[in-house]
Amino acid sequence: MTHAERRAALEAVAAEVRVCTRCRLHQTRTNAVPGEGHPDTEVMLVGEGPGFNEDRLGRPFVGRAGDLLVKLLAAIRWRREEVFITNVVKCRPPDNRDPLPDEIAACQPYLRRQLEALDPALIVTLGRHSMGRFMPGSRISEAHGTVRPVDSATGAPDATAYALYHPAAALRTPAIERASYTDIAGVPVALEASRARRASRAAETEAERTRNASTAVAAMTTSPADQPGLF
Ligand code: URA
Ligand code: SF4
Repeated sequence: MTHAERRAALEAVAAEVRVCTRCRLHQTRTNAVPGEGHPDTEVMLVGEGPGFNEDRLGRPFVGRAGDLLVKLLAAIRWRREEVFITNVVKCRPPDNRDPLPDEIAACQPYLRRQLEALDPALIVTLGRHSMGRFMPGSRISEAHGTVRPVDSATGAPDATAYALYHPAAALRTPAIERASYTDIAGVPVALEASRARRASRAAETEAERTRNASTAVAAMTTSPADQPGLF
């Protein structure tokens, strides 16, 4: 996809999300929160769902958890405008309860389309619900700070997932906040590793194409000799 196509695809998703009524969360939202960020980024951050401030403003991670997320990114000299930030569910669960399985399922096509459009090299999961989508079966206490290849069934064609604790959990528990700073320091390394893996895959695909092409050329050039009666 070109820059313009990606931008258009992301805007189309956002426009649908803003008027979506696919699950009960639309009844209690003020604003849906499609997500935001750079359309050419290699990195997608996926949280759980909008909270009070996000619902008011229609933007992801703009409350206290968002402030901490910005600080964590600053620790690796990244800015939120350089990545894409979204959530597993795009509308606020009432009283900040966990999103329910049927709500996550109803909202899933939007996240899938965002992943397809961005084709991120790295997906940073924020908290359990997001981790559950990209690292199924993992426990956050063990998976935080680790990588896992992402199943392309999620929509991300060739991504690596990296798990972080949810910034809201870090705000509640100093030990989790400390772990979050250690974990975020591993993000650039995980991105480098994913880039390298994607590049070698692309090279393999290219080599395969070249092999097939030369086989095809060989078949074309040898076929008259193979069929002497024809000439
Ligand atoms: N928590 C989330 O999971 N997402 C947000 O957008 C804000 C807080
Ligand atoms: Fe639609 Fe997702 Fe909002 Fe539910 S949470 S109403 S599926 S955008």
